[in-house]
Amino acid sequence: MVAGRVSVRRADEGEQLEEIDLLVIGGGTGGYTAAIRAAQLGPSAAIVEADKIGGTCLHKGCIPTKTWLHSAEVLTQTRNAATFGVQTAEPSLDYPAMRARQQAVVETLHQSIRSVIGKHKIEMIEGRGTIVSPNEVAVGERRIRAKNIVVATGSRPKGLPGLEPDGDRILTSDELLELEEAPKSIAIIGGGAIGCEFASFFTDIGTKATLIEALPTLVPLEDSDAGKAVAKAFTARGVEVMTAANVLTDRTRSYDGVVELTVEHDGTEKQVQADTVLLAVGREAATDGLGLENTKVEIEGGWIKVDGAYRTAEPSIYAVGDAIGGLLLAHVAGAEGFIAAEAIAGKEAETLDYDRVPRVTYSNPQVAAVGLTLGQARERGLNAKSQRFSLKYNAMALIQDETDGFAKVVFDVDGGDVLGVHLVGAHVAEIISEAALGRFLQASAWELGTSIHPHPSLSEVLGEAAQLSAGISIYW
Ligand code: NAI
Repeated sequence: MVAGRVSVRRADEGEQLEEIDLLVIGGGTGGYTAAIRAAQLGPSAAIVEADKIGGTCLHKGCIPTKTWLHSAEVLTQTRNAATFGVQTAEPSLDYPAMRARQQAVVETLHQSIRSVIGKHKIEMIEGRGTIVSPNEVAVGERRIRAKNIVVATGSRPKGLPGLEPDGDRILTSDELLELEEAPKSIAIIGGGAIGCEFASFFTDIGTKATLIEALPTLVPLEDSDAGKAVAKAFTARGVEVMTAANVLTDRTRSYDGVVELTVEHDGTEKQVQADTVLLAVGREAATDGLGLENTKVEIEGGWIKVDGAYRTAEPSIYAVGDAIGGLLLAHVAGAEGFIAAEAIAGKEAETLDYDRVPRVTYSNPQVAAVGLTLGQARERGLNAKSQRFSLKYNAMALIQDETDGFAKVVFDVDGGDVLGVHLVGAHVAEIISEAALGRFLQASAWELGTSIHPHPSLSEVLGEAAQLSAGISIYW
């Protein structure tokens, strides 16, 4: 039995009820972080999970896709081996072996999170939780009373009106990850993080990829230079990139194992044929069947509405992660779960500043960013400028033969503070944490540029862009 748990008898019905301090619904990154942090601070905690602990990130998102992208990177590196003076036979991808490795990586992480949950004596309750009242959750036949509930039920892929997933040729990322062999051709609708990562992966393993984005640039939430650089790199590797493109969903046809999309692009109508279509047009909150109608919890724009401590309009119920919208990122969900648990335990919790959250798209090249774009900074009335430094002049990028990309620093002309950092290139995900720490500590461009970067390293590109911003570059 979990510490602090008691069984109580409801006077009116004589029914046996369990009582717990915190019941978390959904065992993804947001949910398990909330449960573990609560258990560390004292409240007894349990997690209701309908599938497997680890959620979308571990089982259907970050971890499987990054494992695939790493296989594609090894394949590309091996193809380019001669550049480095290494002779190999022509490599090829063993798709089932790649998937088996992905499953092994996922399983290792799955066991590790299970063991952390066990160590903190958090009970895992298998099943789908339904909130029957502000302090009571039903899981099958079982009723659990909780002083607090954290909703961490996550999100699921959105369909496109007129072009819904059919589980056969029109797929979401969930089903795509289950294919036992690679498609020969794929049309990807949506050029955000998911669309770009799969376009990058598939073109590198030899699948003909078309990437269709409604807005004028890829990864449109990021700096437009980043989207343009990704489009250029993709096009050079054979992806057909269509931006500012409109899919006429009612004109979709299927024949001979092929789906044909009609796309308005560059003032003309084009037909795109592919054996598989991936819908990567965003995600929506997974809150149906949760019983929110039995509470005062409010929904805004499809997402659960919360305050800065992740409390909903129902005082006993909190919500974190994808279900509340905003940045749908595992590390954001984790940070939110942590803060919610601290608030529930009565601690004065830190408020999360979303401008200091790093965002990474793991395509080749990677896009990594933190803080504001130049446009966003100016919209906020800041006297902002930006400076860019190319990876062409970076020794490590040259050594690794990966010189496409740049670092761009957006800074406040008046105070010198770094407002945003935008990186494009191979492995730049590993550098963005420095910029995130800089934002956290309210670093100036001078501080970021004067901090010593090891030579040779990719991180020097960020130091150089910061030095340019501070007017202390020896190169210009
Ligand atoms: P997203 O919101 O990032 O991108 C969806 C894209 O589809 C947008 O660029 C949008 O303009 C476009 N779009 C929408 N309707 C369209 C249409 N009819 N035709 C053409 N384009 C259309 O959503 P995405 O990529 O599906 O990812 C879902 C969530 O998961 C995002 O919030 C993302 O941040 C997160 N995620 C994060 C990853 C990471 O951190 N590396 C990886 C994958 C997903």
